[in-house]
Amino acid sequence: MSNKSTNIILGIESSCDDTAAAVCIDGKIVSNVVANQDIHAQYGGVVPELASRAHLSNIVPAISAALKEAGVTLDQLSAVAVTRGPGLLGSLVVGVCAAKGLASGLSIPIIPVNHMDAHIMSSFIELPIPSFPVLSLTVSGGHTQLTIVHSVNQMEVVGKTRDDAAGEAFDKIGKMMGLPYPAGPIIDRLAEAGQPRFKFTHADVPEFDFSFSGLKTQVMYFLRDQLKNEADFLEDNKKDVAASVRSTIVGMLMNKLESCAIDTGIKSVAIVGGVSANRLVRRSAENLAAQHGWQLHIPSLPYCTDNAAMIAITGYYRLLSGTVRHENFVPFTRYEAG
Ligand code: KG4
Ligand code: ZN
Repeated sequence: MSNKSTNIILGIESSCDDTAAAVCIDGKIVSNVVANQDIHAQYGGVVPELASRAHLSNIVPAISAALKEAGVTLDQLSAVAVTRGPGLLGSLVVGVCAAKGLASGLSIPIIPVNHMDAHIMSSFIELPIPSFPVLSLTVSGGHTQLTIVHSVNQMEVVGKTRDDAAGEAFDKIGKMMGLPYPAGPIIDRLAEAGQPRFKFTHADVPEFDFSFSGLKTQVMYFLRDQLKNEADFLEDNKKDVAASVRSTIVGMLMNKLESCAIDTGIKSVAIVGGVSANRLVRRSAENLAAQHGWQLHIPSLPYCTDNAAMIAITGYYRLLSGTVRHENFVPFTRYEAG
């Protein structure tokens, strides 16, 4: 491993509330460290100022731990890949500054990575890697989109949410149900023991776009009306409400994914991002894959939610394809190509 001709990439991710670092050696992830920030749970959502401060405390220990776990020293690194955006500006700045400091100190390339592209590339971490073109459904706390991945450098967004993201819908509805942030995994767990017996309507959105804010309003009025008649309604029916919300959100996601796969004729299908950890998403997608003969790629759980392995693997493929950019880039907060 002392040979510098192998590609050793350090990936750094700090776009939201997790400080993460990972090492990729020749396309293989050898360490993947995530420092979660528990501080936000008491506020019911991520507090940007607190996130930036926590990143600043966590960033050096996270990088050191990732290097140590990988058995790699700084002088062996070939490049540093870092999340450029989208995300919270103060949080992104912490990761970008750390990466710039390392890259300039070590005189190695720095590879700015779009967080959304990196989620898509998370399906290239584990074998078998998908063959192009890939139809990728990205479902996270901030984004819901369908992308045709023609190559590592050519990604075409064909559908996206017009309002809330799928994870955001889970989190906001969970808040109405009195659940702590992030509520997505808790609703998933409750739903496993419940029945989806309350019916909510699917949003009627053209083509391959999504909408989840209408469901949020439906659930809000539903809970208000039920609680008027029965004060203990939520306590007594929490699992069934969770199962009903989950089946509606997952139903909307799967319907669009299925129709887009049929329309494009693409059989290589990936689901990535935090919500791809959802048990019903995974089961429903497996059923669709069996029905339509898809090669389905859903990353293992540590690569679904925010992580730096997906940043490192994207950096690796960008380095191989020679598309590394060296300019003095700055972070961006909203989606843009980059
Ligand atoms: O990809 P991610 O870690 O961060 C963003 O880039 O947003 O996704 C976080 C989102 C949160 O909204 C969280 O509630 C949701 O993913 N999530 C889940 C599950 N695990 C995480 N939603 C539903 N079911 C889950 N099992
Ligand atoms: Zn993410």
